[in-house]
Amino acid sequence: DRTIKIAPSILSADFANFGAEIRAIEAQGADWVHVDVMDGHFVPNLTFGPPAVKAFRPHVKTVMDVHLMIAPVDAYIEAYAEAGADMITAHVEAGPHPHRTLQAIRATGKKAGIALNPGTPVEAVEYLLDLCDMVLVMTVNPGFGGQKFIHSQVDKIARLRGMIGDRPIHIQVDGGVDPATAPLVAQAGADVLVAGSAVFKGGSVDRPDVYGTNMRAI
Ligand code: DX5
Ligand code: ZN
Repeated sequence: DRTIKIAPSILSADFANFGAEIRAIEAQGADWVHVDVMDGHFVPNLTFGPPAVKAFRPHVKTVMDVHLMIAPVDAYIEAYAEAGADMITAHVEAGPHPHRTLQAIRATGKKAGIALNPGTPVEAVEYLLDLCDMVLVMTVNPGFGGQKFIHSQVDKIARLRGMIGDRPIHIQVDGGVDPATAPLVAQAGADVLVAGSAVFKGGSVDRPDVYGTNMRAI
Protein backbone atom coordinates (compact mmCIF):
# COMPACT_ATOMS: atom_id res chain seq x y z
CA ASP A 1 0.00 0.00 0.00
CA ARG A 2 1.78 3.11 -1.20
CA THR A 3 1.18 6.47 0.44
CA ILE A 4 1.38 9.34 -2.01
CA LYS A 5 3.76 12.06 -0.91
CA ILE A 6 3.61 15.63 -2.21
CA ALA A 7 6.90 17.47 -2.69
CA PRO A 8 6.36 21.11 -3.69
CA SER A 9 9.22 22.58 -5.72
CA ILE A 10 10.38 25.90 -4.32
CA LEU A 11 11.54 26.83 -7.83
CA SER A 12 8.07 28.38 -8.14
CA ALA A 13 8.16 30.06 -4.70
CA ASP A 14 8.72 33.77 -3.98
CA PHE A 15 12.54 33.99 -4.11
CA ALA A 16 12.58 36.86 -1.62
CA ASN A 17 10.69 34.83 1.03
CA PHE A 18 11.95 31.24 1.06
CA GLY A 19 11.67 30.75 4.82
CA ALA A 20 8.02 31.83 4.90
CA GLU A 21 7.21 29.88 1.72
CA ILE A 22 8.69 26.65 3.12
CA ARG A 23 6.84 27.04 6.41
CA ALA A 24 3.59 27.72 4.55
CA ILE A 25 3.75 24.64 2.32
CA GLU A 26 4.67 22.42 5.28
CA ALA A 27 1.75 23.88 7.26
CA GLN A 28 -0.49 22.98 4.30
CA GLY A 29 0.69 19.38 4.35
CA ALA A 30 3.73 19.15 2.11
CA ASP A 31 5.53 15.86 2.81
CA TRP A 32 8.92 16.83 1.33
CA VAL A 33 10.43 20.10 0.09
CA HIS A 34 11.90 19.76 -3.42
CA VAL A 35 14.93 21.95 -4.27
CA ASP A 36 15.87 22.25 -7.95
CA VAL A 37 19.58 22.85 -8.49
CA MET A 38 20.47 23.99 -12.03
CA ASP A 39 23.90 24.78 -13.46
CA GLY A 40 23.32 26.62 -16.76
CA HIS A 41 25.13 23.76 -18.51
CA PHE A 42 23.25 20.49 -18.02
CA VAL A 43 20.06 22.58 -18.13
CA PRO A 44 19.57 26.09 -19.51
CA ASN A 45 18.86 27.77 -16.18
CA LEU A 46 20.71 28.69 -12.97
CA THR A 47 19.41 28.33 -9.43
CA PHE A 48 20.79 27.33 -6.02
CA GLY A 49 24.36 26.76 -4.90
CA PRO A 50 25.20 24.97 -1.63
CA PRO A 51 25.06 28.18 0.47
CA ALA A 52 21.45 28.78 -0.64
CA VAL A 53 20.50 25.19 0.19
CA LYS A 54 22.18 25.55 3.59
CA ALA A 55 20.07 28.66 4.23
CA PHE A 56 16.87 26.70 3.45
CA ARG A 57 17.78 23.88 5.85
CA PRO A 58 16.61 25.34 9.18
CA HIS A 59 13.21 26.13 7.69
CA VAL A 60 12.59 22.58 6.44
CA LYS A 61 11.06 20.37 9.13
CA THR A 62 10.14 17.52 6.78
CA VAL A 63 12.55 16.15 4.15
CA MET A 64 14.84 18.32 2.04
CA ASP A 65 14.88 16.66 -1.36
CA VAL A 66 17.65 18.08 -3.56
CA HIS A 67 17.37 17.49 -7.32
CA LEU A 68 20.76 18.12 -8.94
CA MET A 69 20.53 19.11 -12.59
CA ILE A 70 24.27 19.62 -12.91
CA ALA A 71 27.05 17.99 -14.90
CA PRO A 72 29.60 16.90 -14.00
CA VAL A 73 27.92 16.27 -10.65
CA ASP A 74 30.32 14.21 -8.52
CA ALA A 75 32.45 17.14 -7.37
CA TYR A 76 29.40 18.83 -5.77
CA ILE A 77 27.79 15.92 -3.93
CA GLU A 78 29.60 16.46 -0.68
CA ALA A 79 28.83 20.18 -0.63
CA TYR A 80 25.09 19.56 -1.04
CA ALA A 81 25.21 16.83 1.60
CA GLU A 82 26.92 19.21 4.01
CA ALA A 83 24.37 21.89 3.15
CA GLY A 84 21.75 19.60 4.68
CA ALA A 85 20.09 17.62 1.90
CA ASP A 86 18.29 14.48 3.11
CA MET A 87 17.85 13.04 -0.39
CA ILE A 88 20.21 13.79 -3.27
CA THR A 89 19.15 12.95 -6.82
CA ALA A 90 21.50 13.09 -9.80
CA HIS A 91 20.69 12.54 -13.48
CA VAL A 92 21.71 9.32 -15.21
CA GLU A 93 22.64 11.50 -18.21
CA ALA A 94 25.00 13.63 -16.10
CA GLY A 95 27.50 10.75 -16.34
CA PRO A 96 29.84 9.48 -17.29
CA HIS A 97 29.57 7.07 -14.33
CA PRO A 98 26.13 7.19 -12.66
CA HIS A 99 26.94 4.05 -10.66
CA ARG A 100 29.92 5.82 -9.12
CA THR A 101 27.77 8.91 -8.52
CA LEU A 102 25.22 6.87 -6.55
CA GLN A 103 28.02 5.26 -4.54
CA ALA A 104 29.31 8.75 -3.73
CA ILE A 105 25.86 9.92 -2.59
CA ARG A 106 25.43 6.84 -0.39
CA ALA A 107 28.91 7.43 1.06
CA THR A 108 27.71 10.76 2.48
CA GLY A 109 25.01 8.91 4.43
CA LYS A 110 22.21 10.58 2.48
CA LYS A 111 19.43 8.90 0.52
CA ALA A 112 20.25 8.51 -3.17
CA GLY A 113 18.07 9.13 -6.21
CA ILE A 114 18.65 8.76 -9.93
CA ALA A 115 16.74 10.84 -12.48
CA LEU A 116 15.68 10.03 -16.04
CA ASN A 117 15.00 12.70 -18.66
CA PRO A 118 11.94 12.14 -20.88
CA GLY A 119 14.09 10.85 -23.76
CA THR A 120 16.03 8.35 -21.66
CA PRO A 121 14.87 4.72 -21.67
CA VAL A 122 13.92 3.11 -18.38
CA GLU A 123 16.59 0.43 -18.95
CA ALA A 124 19.22 3.07 -18.14
CA VAL A 125 18.57 2.52 -14.43
CA GLU A 126 18.31 -1.28 -14.49
CA TYR A 127 21.79 -1.85 -13.04
CA LEU A 128 21.58 1.13 -10.71
CA LEU A 129 18.50 0.15 -8.73
CA ASP A 130 20.42 -1.63 -5.98
CA LEU A 131 22.13 1.68 -5.15
CA CYS A 132 18.93 3.75 -5.24
CA ASP A 133 16.35 4.88 -2.71
CA MET A 134 14.40 6.65 -5.45
CA VAL A 135 14.06 6.91 -9.22
CA LEU A 136 12.88 10.27 -10.56
CA VAL A 137 10.96 10.18 -13.83
CA MET A 138 10.98 13.61 -15.44
CA THR A 139 7.67 14.41 -17.12
CA VAL A 140 9.07 17.60 -18.69
CA ASN A 141 12.53 18.36 -20.02
CA PRO A 142 14.41 19.73 -17.01
CA GLY A 143 15.20 23.42 -16.64
CA PHE A 144 12.00 25.31 -15.96
CA GLY A 145 8.81 25.19 -13.97
CA GLY A 146 5.43 25.58 -15.61
CA GLN A 147 5.96 23.29 -18.62
CA LYS A 148 3.41 20.93 -20.12
CA PHE A 149 3.25 17.33 -18.83
CA ILE A 150 4.64 14.79 -21.35
CA HIS A 151 2.10 11.95 -21.40
CA SER A 152 4.40 9.31 -22.93
CA GLN A 153 6.16 9.09 -19.57
CA VAL A 154 3.18 7.44 -17.85
CA ASP A 155 4.07 4.17 -19.58
CA LYS A 156 7.69 4.58 -18.45
CA ILE A 157 6.52 4.90 -14.84
CA ALA A 158 4.51 1.69 -15.14
CA ARG A 159 7.45 -0.19 -16.64
CA LEU A 160 9.74 1.13 -13.91
CA ARG A 161 7.28 -0.02 -11.25
CA GLY A 162 7.48 -3.51 -12.74
CA MET A 163 11.27 -3.40 -12.86
CA ILE A 164 11.49 -2.31 -9.19
CA GLY A 165 9.16 -5.05 -7.99
CA ASP A 166 9.15 -5.39 -4.20
CA ARG A 167 12.26 -3.32 -3.57
CA PRO A 168 11.71 -0.31 -1.27
CA ILE A 169 12.46 2.31 -3.93
CA HIS A 170 10.37 5.45 -4.38
CA ILE A 171 9.21 6.54 -7.82
CA GLN A 172 9.15 10.32 -7.99
CA VAL A 173 7.55 12.27 -10.82
CA ASP A 174 8.54 15.84 -11.64
CA GLY A 175 7.13 18.24 -14.23
CA GLY A 176 3.61 19.37 -15.04
CA VAL A 177 2.11 17.50 -12.10
CA ASP A 178 -1.22 19.01 -11.05
CA PRO A 179 -4.57 17.71 -9.81
CA ALA A 180 -5.36 16.49 -13.37
CA THR A 181 -2.12 14.59 -14.07
CA ALA A 182 -1.39 13.40 -10.51
CA PRO A 183 -3.89 10.51 -10.61
CA LEU A 184 -2.36 9.25 -13.89
CA VAL A 185 1.15 8.97 -12.47
CA ALA A 186 -0.05 7.62 -9.14
CA GLN A 187 -2.03 4.89 -10.92
CA ALA A 188 1.05 4.01 -12.96
CA GLY A 189 3.03 3.47 -9.77
CA ALA A 190 4.57 6.77 -8.68
CA ASP A 191 4.50 7.63 -4.98
CA VAL A 192 6.31 10.99 -4.66
CA LEU A 193 4.79 13.82 -6.68
CA VAL A 194 6.76 17.02 -7.24
CA ALA A 195 4.65 20.06 -8.03
CA GLY A 196 5.90 23.59 -8.56
CA SER A 197 3.48 25.85 -10.35
CA ALA A 198 0.43 23.84 -9.27
CA VAL A 199 1.30 24.68 -5.66
CA PHE A 200 2.65 28.20 -5.99
CA LYS A 201 0.62 29.46 -8.99
CA GLY A 202 -0.34 33.06 -8.62
CA GLY A 203 2.51 33.74 -6.21
CA SER A 204 0.61 32.17 -3.33
CA VAL A 205 1.06 28.96 -1.43
CA ASP A 206 -2.50 29.21 -0.21
CA ARG A 207 -3.77 26.49 -2.51
CA PRO A 208 -5.23 23.84 -0.19
CA ASP A 209 -6.97 22.12 -3.12
CA VAL A 210 -3.57 20.95 -4.32
CA TYR A 211 -3.11 18.93 -1.15
CA GLY A 212 -6.61 17.52 -1.19
CA THR A 213 -7.89 14.23 -2.44
CA ASN A 214 -7.20 15.12 -6.07
CA MET A 215 -3.43 15.03 -5.78
CA ARG A 216 -3.35 12.02 -3.52
CA ALA A 217 -6.02 10.00 -5.29
CA ILE A 218 -4.89 6.76 -6.86
C1 DX5 B 1 12.10 21.19 -13.72
C2 DX5 B 1 12.17 20.96 -12.23
C3 DX5 B 1 10.85 20.81 -11.60
C4 DX5 B 1 9.95 22.02 -11.71
C5 DX5 B 1 8.54 21.54 -11.73
O1 DX5 B 1 13.38 21.13 -14.25
O2 DX5 B 1 12.93 19.79 -11.95
O3 DX5 B 1 10.97 20.42 -10.24
O4 DX5 B 1 10.11 22.94 -10.67
O5 DX5 B 1 7.69 22.61 -11.94
P1 DX5 B 1 6.19 22.39 -12.44
O6 DX5 B 1 5.48 21.59 -11.39
O7 DX5 B 1 5.67 23.79 -12.55
O8 DX5 B 1 6.24 21.67 -13.75
ZN1 ZN C 1 12.90 18.92 -9.84
